[in-house]
Parts: sequence; structure tokens; C-alpha cells
Amino acid sequence: MNKQAPPLAADRTQLSVGLGDRSYDIVIGPGLLAESGARIAALRPGARIGIVTDSNVADRHLGVVEASLREAGLTPTPILVEPGEKSKCFAVFEQVVDALLAARIERRDLLLALGGGVVGDLAGFAAAALRRGVDFVQAPTSLLAQVDSSVGGKTGINSRHGKNLVGAFHQPILVLADTGALDTLPLREFRSGYAEVAKYGLIDNAPFFGWLERRWEAVFRGGAERIEAIATSCASKAAVVSRDEKETGDRALLNLGHTFGHALEAGAGFSQRLLHGEAVAVGMAQAFRFSAAQGLCATADAERVETHLRTVGLPTRIADIPGALPDTDGLMDLIAQDKKVSRGALTFILARGIGQSYIARDVDPAQLRAFLEEERRGR
Ligand SMILES: NC(=O)c1ccc[n+]([C@@H]2O[C@H](COP(=O)([O-])OP(=O)(O)OC[C@H]3O[C@@H](n4cnc5c(N)ncnc54)[C@H](O)[C@@H]3O)[C@@H](O)[C@H]2O)c1
Ligand SMILES: [Zn+2]
Repeated sequence: MNKQAPPLAADRTQLSVGLGDRSYDIVIGPGLLAESGARIAALRPGARIGIVTDSNVADRHLGVVEASLREAGLTPTPILVEPGEKSKCFAVFEQVVDALLAARIERRDLLLALGGGVVGDLAGFAAAALRRGVDFVQAPTSLLAQVDSSVGGKTGINSRHGKNLVGAFHQPILVLADTGALDTLPLREFRSGYAEVAKYGLIDNAPFFGWLERRWEAVFRGGAERIEAIATSCASKAAVVSRDEKETGDRALLNLGHTFGHALEAGAGFSQRLLHGEAVAVGMAQAFRFSAAQGLCATADAERVETHLRTVGLPTRIADIPGALPDTDGLMDLIAQDKKVSRGALTFILARGIGQSYIARDVDPAQLRAFLEEERRGR
């Protein structure tokens, strides 16, 4: 049994999320799923491993992971769920926890979340709850999960009252982002995750946004640029999470594009009509257009944001979203229900320019309504 993590290959990047004694590493690069056994055995030799995954990911990547775990002397038990957001619910949560108990996963054992953000959120919450808390490893397989949901410790499921309303902060002990696993991800899903990559540039890293404008095709193709884009994104998220783990302060910057985006996602019924990252792309373009309309940021910056998102094939306008959406008042109601609204005052992430986003706590609902009305008319 190999108890040493393999040495880092040249095409690997390793970062740390600094959270005191709960700090953990994010390893990024190709071929990591095949090494998952050695890396996990180094942390928890001989453990039983409950692998939560969905059937799409299982078909493509479970075999490699299981073989790697067995070879390292670990005992894997796969638990499969249906792909899609519907699996983030109480019923599936119960099935997963029951299956973990049946597999006799104990507190010194581990869970492995192998999949996109749905699997990560569901498995992470199961890990938080099982026997009052079992450690878990994230092996994100979608771009969105690699740059966003697998880092930061937010876990949870949906309720009939809304998305992500039941959950826990539970940090993983390791994140293994196998960039080669993204080769099997459908292009539309990759593009949707890319919206979150661009977001990190727009929040506070203008040089990164400029690099993406020049190198995005290479990021999509794979190889060194993909690793670099994911590593830069993870470094941004890790820095914010270390400063503000429970979102009492500037972690809220990560919500750039998400207030408008969530309203549109809800308006489209959280369906395949509009993926999360697509909604965020429209939301970020809107946040910049709204900022420009308020005289906070140059119109040229808003146009640059829109141009880049459109160039990669992401939507930027309400008119780009197929099917019917709520009217302006309906969208305003959805924005008001969003958890980022506190006591009537609208909190938005706005921008003074590319890489200069900030938390605006005083957005005037009347101006917002007028802006949305114009947006809906398509200007
Ligand atoms: N916890 C957080 O901080 C956080 C942050 C952002 C988003 N999220 C959550 O993440 C979820 C969205 O994540 P997502 O976009 O990864 O969705 P997802 O998990 O549904 O994955 C998208 C699709 O891609 C498939 N897939 C994943 N990896 C694949 C691969 N390598 N090859 C082929 N198919 C693959 C999945 O089966 C699914 O059909 C939402 O539930 C959202 O709430 C959580
Ligand atoms: Zn998001």
C-alpha cells in the first residue's frame, strides 16, 4: 500500500485553501482520477470510501477511480444517483445516507464526491450529516465544479421553498480537479462553467480577463491554458474563502451576476432552457450594463464584457433565452426573494470597471425596475 502522495508532475498545480487546521489542498491537472487512490490512501490508509456519483460520470470515470482506490488498499462503495438538479433533494439525500450507513462508512472513513456541482453539494451535505460529520474529498468533473462549487465548503440540497436552502458549511479535506476529465463534458456544460471563470477576472483580476480574451480557445481545447485558467479561478475563490468562510463580508463578491442570474434561472424554472452559468453570463452582462447606466463604469467596459461572453457562445441578453420569462414585475419579485436582499434594501454586486467589482448595498429599486424594463424591451 502506497501511503505517499505521488510527486507533483510538471503539469500539475497545487494550491492551498488556508483555514487553519481545516486547511486543504486543491490539486489541478490531467490524470488525477487515476491517482486518486494513492492520494487518498496517503490521508486515510485502509479506509472505506463511499463514492457518490451520477450515472453520466459513472459511465465515463468510475472504473478508473474504483481501480485506483482498490490498488491503494482502500475499499470503495459506489452510490449512484440520477444526473441533474433533481437529485439535490431530501429523498435522494436519504437514499445516499442510507447507502453509506449500509456500507458501514464510519467517522474515520471517507466520502468521495465524484461529479459536478450537484454531486458535490449532495455528497458534501451527506458527509456533514453522516454520523455528525465524516471527512470528504471532492473530485469535481465539471468545469463549474472545478472552479467554483468544489472549493469553499458550501454543501446542501434544495427544498420546495427554494434552491440550496438546507445545508451546511463542511470543507473537504482535499480537492482533486482532473482537468482531463473535462474532455467528456458536453460543450454546453463547459461553456456554462466558463462563465464562472470569466467572473473571477471581472471581480478583481483585469489581467486575467484580458488573458481569457486572448486565450479562451486554448482553455476550451485543453492543455496548459485550461490548467492555468482553473488554477487562477481556484486561487481567487480560495483567497475569498480564507478571508470570509461563512459569507459575512466580501465572499458576496462571488455573487457577481448571480442576483440577476438567479431571477432568470428561477423564471426559466431551473430547467435545461437556461443552465446556471448561462444565467450568470446574462447576469454579469446586465450588472455591467446597469453599472454603466448608473454612470459607475465606462460603457466600453460593459461592451467588452458582453463581446467576450458572446464570442465564447454564452448568452448576454434576456432575448437570448428561449421561451417565455416573467414580466418586469415578476423578475423584480424574484430578485426580492433572493437571499441577497436584506430588509428591503437591494444588495447588488456592481462594477466600476473590469476587475473592479464591489458590493453595492443601496441599489434603488425604482432605477433597477426601469433598467429591467429596458432590458426586457431588448433596447
Ligand atoms: N457549493 C457551492 O459553492 C456551489 C457553487 C456553485 C454551484 N453550485 C451548485 O452546483 C450545481 C451545478 O453544478 P454543475 O453545473 O456541475 O451541474 P451538474 O452536477 O448537474 O453537472 C452538469 C452535467 O454534466 C454531467 N457531467 C459532469 N461531469 C461530467 C463529465 N466529466 N463528463 C460528462 N458529463 C459530466 C452531469 O452528469 C450533469 O448532467 C448546482 O446545483 C449549484 O447549486 C454549488
Ligand atoms: Zn454560480
